[in-house]
Amino acid sequence: MTGKFISFEGTDGSGKTSVIKEVERYLKVAGYDVVTTREPGGVSISEQVRNVIHDTENKEMDPVCEALLYAASRRQHLVQKVIPLLKEGKIVLCDRYIDSSLAYQGYARGIGIEKVKEINEFAIDGIYPDLTLFINVRPEVGLQRIFEHQASHEINRLDEESIEFHKRTHEGYLILAKMYPDRIKDVEGERSIKEVANDCFKLIKGIL
Ligand code: TYD
Repeated sequence: MTGKFISFEGTDGSGKTSVIKEVERYLKVAGYDVVTTREPGGVSISEQVRNVIHDTENKEMDPVCEALLYAASRRQHLVQKVIPLLKEGKIVLCDRYIDSSLAYQGYARGIGIEKVKEINEFAIDGIYPDLTLFINVRPEVGLQRIFEHQASHEINRLDEESIEFHKRTHEGYLILAKMYPDRIKDVEGERSIKEVANDCFKLIKGIL
């Protein structure tokens, strides 16, 4: 595959979605062929699976079931959308990928990073991102941002989790960044979108 696969990660309210938009713009201005997607990224089957996971009615969902559903949704999005784009030589910016499952289900929910990694390795079949940008914002700052933007933010089942869950997710990402220092880069997220995007742009340029 000739393209480059770049994932963006962060706790809720880290601003990663706004950062990605800005990074996409910078790359386009610089003349790169870039496509932004997010899990499930408009792929119908993945979208349907996601609706089951995020339904606020599904309070009894078992953590392992949740992890398997995310992996299933990821698989379909990868095969149907990401791989074809990479084969066309595109730079693919993906809002969340395997590390979300490792941090949220593996670490924060307590299934274990290694166990969730096993499920996901079956799903992704060796397709790891070339680069992962972790937008690092302290969990209390992220939550504050969510509350401030509540009107425009669709509240899902995971947003209803406690502050402790958000803290554990953040801790999970820090552990992952230490486990995979070559792939995962920790980007200071408590700055303006432009400043954060600029750092991401430089890191991406470094692998092109
Ligand atoms: P979403 O509405 O896409 O928000 P965000 O802009 O934060 O990405 O919700 C995604 C939620 O799903 C978020 O709380 C993280 C969670 N999630 C997992 O727990 N595991 C996963 O593998 C993925 C992809 C997401």
